[in-house]
Amino acid sequence: GGLITLDPGYKNTGSCESAITFLNGEEGILRYRGYAIEDLAEKASFLEVAYLLIFGELPTQEQLDKLYKDIKKESVVDEEMKKILDGFPKSAHPMGVLSSLNNALIAFNPSSVNVDSDEDMYNAIIKLLAKFPVLVAWTLRKRNSQPLDYGDTSLGYVDNILKMMFKKPNEEYKVDPAISSALNKLLILHADHEQNCSTSTVRMVGSSHAGLFASISAGICALWGPLHGGANQAVIEMLEGIKQDGGDTKKYMKKAKDKEDSFRLMGFGHRVYKNFDPRAKIIKKSADEVLGNLGIEDPVLDIAKGLEKEALEDSYFVDRKLYPNVDFYSGIIYRALGIPTEMFTVMFALGRLPGWIAQWREMRLRKEPIGRPRQIYIGENHRDFKDIESR
Ligand code: CMC
Repeated sequence: GGLITLDPGYKNTGSCESAITFLNGEEGILRYRGYAIEDLAEKASFLEVAYLLIFGELPTQEQLDKLYKDIKKESVVDEEMKKILDGFPKSAHPMGVLSSLNNALIAFNPSSVNVDSDEDMYNAIIKLLAKFPVLVAWTLRKRNSQPLDYGDTSLGYVDNILKMMFKKPNEEYKVDPAISSALNKLLILHADHEQNCSTSTVRMVGSSHAGLFASISAGICALWGPLHGGANQAVIEMLEGIKQDGGDTKKYMKKAKDKEDSFRLMGFGHRVYKNFDPRAKIIKKSADEVLGNLGIEDPVLDIAKGLEKEALEDSYFVDRKLYPNVDFYSGIIYRALGIPTEMFTVMFALGRLPGWIAQWREMRLRKEPIGRPRQIYIGENHRDFKDIESR
């Protein structure tokens, strides 16, 4: 091998060429396949965006109908999967449950692994788009001790997800358009973000030709961490903690700046954005709208706004270009929609699914080589083996 360059965290290393998502962190620009995130969040449906990300173009009505028709046919999971879910304690973290269930899908859909033909690849993608929301809903229902059920595919993709999650036994469930539109927007805003930690994981695992489902399960685990998707849960826990501690935001700002203190302002900072995260701007506005529409007053929204204001005026945050990221306000909306805190990162995964699929598909179609970084060895040189008695 030649010279190895060291770049921990891959801060300056491109791992692939990609035509899916454009991100300019200096200017705060995000586009999916060339379309501005602001336009998509305002005007598109989540399923349209999924089609766009995966197949490269906005679908015609006919293409969208075909996609949803194919998804509907696959919208059940094997009944045996319920036993697996049953085996988890109720207290299990939903992200662990989701990644396990998603991996378990392979056992019941073995044909999803071999994707050598276009048709096999399409079928694996459809299966996942269809079954993943069922797993998400079941994960929530298990936590809430509610019977598991399938959805109602006479509804649209997002409305069906809401019904699968929230329908109570023996009660009619009517989708609230304000809730549906808020969730649609959040899912679109989370749908892709180029080579972030979980997406790189999906591509890396997929590069060994492990199947789509296994690659996605690995992505779910990567997303779980609080430095990545787990930040949305961590933000609300932080805001709640500040509230319970008397709402003294200044005290926490001080902690966040203290290098001896491990506390970080969760939902702030980003590896690539050195300006406002354009998703955070949209979500902040949406949080105000959703709470207004639903007539909810959430004191943590005021704490969040207070922290943001202080941070934007504080030289520590200004100098390091730390701005609110996508996770800062999203939890406040999820909570207004009735989604429990522990489920926030699951909702992120649901949104990110089309992006993961698109990136995995691109990696396979481009026949990328197996991912295999090198290292710079810093361990012991050759040592003579010593028998255990003489150590
Ligand atoms: N609070 C306080 N200080 C911070 C924060 C923060 N949230 N984020 C970064 N810094 C400081 C950091 O201590 C370092 O300071 P110094 O130069 O004095 O050592 C400087 O800013 C650069 O930070 P870094 O950790 O070297 O940057 P990174 O690119 O490795 O990390 C990050 C990016 C997102 C992991 C980090 O900003 C962070 O931990 N933020 C909080 C967690 C969070 O909100 N994550 C969600 C990310 S966005 C969506 C997603 O992926 O889910």
